[in-house]
Amino acid sequence: MVAPLDGQRYWESGLFSGLTLSGRRVLVGVSGGIAAYKSAELVRRLRQAGAEVRVVMTTGAQAFITPLTMQALSGHPVHSELLDSRVEAAMGHIELARWADAILVAPASANLMARLAHGLADDLLTTLCLASEAPLFLAPAMNRVMWMHPATQANSELLRQRSVRLLGPAAGEQACGEVGAGRMLEPDELVAELLRYWQQGPLSGVSLLVTAGPTREPIDPVRYISNRSSGKMGYAVAEAALRAGATVTLVSGPTALPRPPGVALVAVESAAEMAVAVQARISQCDIFIAVAAVADYRPSVVVPQKMKKSAPELSLALERTEDILAMAAGGTDAPFCVGFAAETEDLEGYARDKLARKGLDMIAANLVGQGVGFESDVNCLTLFWADGQYEIKRATKAVVARELIEIIAERYHAKNSG
Ligand code: CTP
Repeated sequence: MVAPLDGQRYWESGLFSGLTLSGRRVLVGVSGGIAAYKSAELVRRLRQAGAEVRVVMTTGAQAFITPLTMQALSGHPVHSELLDSRVEAAMGHIELARWADAILVAPASANLMARLAHGLADDLLTTLCLASEAPLFLAPAMNRVMWMHPATQANSELLRQRSVRLLGPAAGEQACGEVGAGRMLEPDELVAELLRYWQQGPLSGVSLLVTAGPTREPIDPVRYISNRSSGKMGYAVAEAALRAGATVTLVSGPTALPRPPGVALVAVESAAEMAVAVQARISQCDIFIAVAAVADYRPSVVVPQKMKKSAPELSLALERTEDILAMAAGGTDAPFCVGFAAETEDLEGYARDKLARKGLDMIAANLVGQGVGFESDVNCLTLFWADGQYEIKRATKAVVARELIEIIAERYHAKNSG
């Protein structure tokens, strides 16, 4: 059973075990928005992760949460005035700007983003953002219409071009009762982003795309063809890559698993949708790992209305789906491509055939049907590449994924330096 991460402390999940923000100085900026109530939890989690935290609040933020709360949680007086001689005497704004190893504004309102985009410095928080050389992270939070407004989108783009790191927003139910993009990321996810930013691992600076889970191929509006893949292996690979310092996007078919914090999740259903999602991202990634159990065939015709039973027998005409992995590996400027192969016999023969046929850098193969693989929490893999192979012994999927990522990192760097 994979324990859900949502609502649990991410460090209890083991995902970032051994990693801390110890010694990191994080300036948390809070602007005016209902999500400001989450900033209290954010400060608490940052400190639990080892960071030293100072808080700067805008006037608007103080309508949602009191400076006293933030002072109690951060252990330091909250800064909010730009021209306060007493505060300036203790720790002036320039000193505060230099103090920060990172500035994280959460929530970042549409108004704050607009002010930052235009270089305004009309309050303490915007002044600090201008006066600091520390990396700036923004966690946007606003009504979905405000987020989608061309003005906000243009400001976001401008900020991104200036290397401001936008974290989120997430999609979902909003405080205003609407549903859509604009929700602030959860405090855990923001902490995970900072951990990942400072983490040094074998895949630091590497962008990685993973497919996971089954696909569903519709027959009619209520039926589909699918398989027993749980998605556990793909999710474990995504988490292991994140731990190794990579920026990870997970394109996943339907699973019961929660999104690993820090991983960008693209939810899809059919092989065709998965192909589109991968194709849109393949040119920006350095490593592609195809763990998904993509259906090899789909019904040639999707019946628009629910099919009624009448004939004693029914045959479905099927057609091949697009081979996502072969497409990714066959493109110009293809990333380092890793495939998976589940076999019931002649593991090496079939795996090496797929390696060559699909033009892969590596294939991770396993024998299925012996208490490992699909729906199981354990797995074992044999990795094959053109002139080598490596055995990963039977262990939990999390442990197997970490070893797999180590080998992938090694082969990836060997290929790029060779
Ligand atoms: N794959 C894919 N797109 C498909 C089918 C498979 O990306 N339409 C990927 C899987 O994610 C996996 C690998 O290709 O990494 C599996 O290869 P495949 O040849 O489909 O394996 P099998 O279905 O086991 O093939 P075969 O029937 O030839 O054994």
